[in-house]
Amino acid sequence: MGGSLGKDLLGLATLSAEQINLILDTAVPFREISERQIKKVPTLRGMTIVNLFFEPSTRTRISFEFAEKRLSADTVNVAIANSSVSKGETLVDTARNLEAMKIDMVVVRHPASGAARFLAERIESNVINAGDGMHEHPTQGLLDMLTLRDRLGNLRGRRICIVGDVLHSRVARSNIWGLHKLGAEVGVCGPRSLLPNAIAEMGVTVFDRIEDAIQWADALNILRLQLERMQAGYIPSLREYNRVFGVSRARLEAAPRDLLILHPGPMNRGVEIDSDVADGPHSVILDQVTNGLAVRMAVLYLLAGGRPELAEAAKKGAP
Ligand code: NCD
Repeated sequence: MGGSLGKDLLGLATLSAEQINLILDTAVPFREISERQIKKVPTLRGMTIVNLFFEPSTRTRISFEFAEKRLSADTVNVAIANSSVSKGETLVDTARNLEAMKIDMVVVRHPASGAARFLAERIESNVINAGDGMHEHPTQGLLDMLTLRDRLGNLRGRRICIVGDVLHSRVARSNIWGLHKLGAEVGVCGPRSLLPNAIAEMGVTVFDRIEDAIQWADALNILRLQLERMQAGYIPSLREYNRVFGVSRARLEAAPRDLLILHPGPMNRGVEIDSDVADGPHSVILDQVTNGLAVRMAVLYLLAGGRPELAEAAKKGAP
């Protein structure tokens, strides 16, 4: 199966601006389904989707599962934690087994960058990347862009600054590639030890001071500081990180305009973001979660061959 997006959604680097806008536009009518008392339409009835998670995940997995169920697909969750088999072998075996079970789509999260493409090239089912290592997390990038678009309108020329642990972040890469396609300007801000060496080649503006980023930006997308990597000595301490880069209300008060605050979650409150910012008037963090569901419904619908002009009809429950 392949609609206007092709067979798979592997990343935003390989999508056109038209395809990104198509997904965002399709997500808008789907958003309303989740507002209803009966949150279900028959659009994907009879389709089988496997959620294959080789890494821990709460909100992304739940969001995909809700999206699938609200479109009436049959779903199976497979959580494969800490498999001792080498990653390549595991994926090949898994791919063969899935094919033998005649499933329609696979949503995959895997610690190895490139794992989603590896799988997509070996099975006929549609593959959706739910995060591959430090590479991409396209549905997160899309939901971030939908949330920004809701508040800022056209993103052309808008300034979005990604703050924190960019080095390890697939969310950062999907945002940088996706936002650039929509014509936004992208900044990054964090300690140099948490920025990739070749960051300037990605066409972003680098800020060494959070104060400067706050002066520049229309929105801050604040990344989780990956505590599990702190032993590696990327930063001296969490307290020092908070003191130098933490987004606090006092720092935001110096902003020349209202700044939108995004965070993909899970948050370390008091480290990269203070609670009064996370829960404050400019935070759109829960809108991101709501939009995530709609974006995932849109991606499932389009990959299943759904036509964007029929999204309204699908919403009304027409076959
Ligand atoms: C992100 C991820 O897993 O890449 N979270 C998410 O999808 N909810 C970011 C993170 O783990 O910090």
